[in-house]
Amino acid sequence: MISKEQNERLTRVGPGTPMGKLLRRYWHPVGVVPELDKTPVRRVRILGENLTLYRSESGEYGLIGDRCPHRRVDMEYGIPDEKGLRCPYHGWLFNKAGQCLEMPFDDRINPGSTHKDRVSITAYPVQELGGLLFAYLGPQPQPLLPRWDVLAREGSDVIVEIHALPCNWLQCMDNAADPMHFEYLHAALGNYTLKKQGKPPAMVVAKHIKIEFDRFAYGIMKRRLLEGEPETVDDWTTGHPLLFPNILAVGSSAGPTLQFRVPVDDTHTIQFAYRTRKRAPGAAPRPVVVQRTKLFNEEGKIVPDNIPAQDMVAWVMQGPVCDRENEHLSASDKGVLLYHRMLNEEMDKVERGEEPMAVIRDPRENEPMIDIRRERLNLQTFESRYDTHFDRLDATPAE
Ligand code: FES
Ligand SMILES: [Fe+2]
Repeated sequence: MISKEQNERLTRVGPGTPMGKLLRRYWHPVGVVPELDKTPVRRVRILGENLTLYRSESGEYGLIGDRCPHRRVDMEYGIPDEKGLRCPYHGWLFNKAGQCLEMPFDDRINPGSTHKDRVSITAYPVQELGGLLFAYLGPQPQPLLPRWDVLAREGSDVIVEIHALPCNWLQCMDNAADPMHFEYLHAALGNYTLKKQGKPPAMVVAKHIKIEFDRFAYGIMKRRLLEGEPETVDDWTTGHPLLFPNILAVGSSAGPTLQFRVPVDDTHTIQFAYRTRKRAPGAAPRPVVVQRTKLFNEEGKIVPDNIPAQDMVAWVMQGPVCDRENEHLSASDKGVLLYHRMLNEEMDKVERGEEPMAVIRDPRENEPMIDIRRERLNLQTFESRYDTHFDRLDATPAE
């Protein structure tokens, strides 16, 4: 249990809040390339800020404020230009650094006017990696965009699943520090849901005997030992990581996944689930597939008949912001406690003017990629008959 104030410190993400300042020290995904191909100007809300993500005519990405500094029209209706984004109302043009480059009428009637030099719009850097567009909203100098292996490695097909969640980001991450939920949320609830649908159970999971959490340079390695397993099993010797501050790495080495839980504001989160599958030798590369899934059915409920939906039940059904002051933590929550301790320590560092953990500045650390240790999928005591996102994609005729 933590106090209401401690909970607010962990969950509030707006500009100027301790957690908002910590999270602004990291790059976060704000879009996906295939969606910008279709709609080159898109509204983005992240860390309580409303912004406009765009691709210019010359192919550069930018992330600028949502309101034109002239008469405050919404830049989501802006027109991409060679040099940036042009306001749809009177044509002021802004580059990706936010500088106003043109004021068409003023420039015409008053050639040589320097008015535009003194006008700018909020702007943040954007970089592309693996089909995701990342933004950095923190102080300069900006760190390197981490080249996580799943994003940087060639030879995999990719599905990016995007979920808009009506809950605080920390609920998604607490769940990532809590392996024991697998037995109930994924096996018991999943099988019960399928039974109600007249379907056979999809999962058998042995009981957790031990859970352990180790700090490492990029976050927390999570390890578990299930009943009937020897202590040499790599689910126990290696495990898989929570990448600080807001990414979960899961999946087998043949199909690793990263799940980015990006705070939209205090009560909303967007998840980018970046799923990969190693391409068969000689197979043609498949373009990045983007899926936006509907969370609620017509009765306003999440149907927990697959693993991602089960996790989302847990996140969303803790309420817009979980009232942690009323929780009763127990032995299965040691990972959650460690994670909160680390968040508090890193917020303190930022308050002291220090650099928080897992901010990457040395290219030697980042090139060609950062290898994430993870266990091979353990099939001895874990049996799942859920099909994967790629199984479903394979079964869908090409458009
Ligand atoms: S409101 Fe944007 S140019 Fe006038
Ligand atoms: Fe889960």
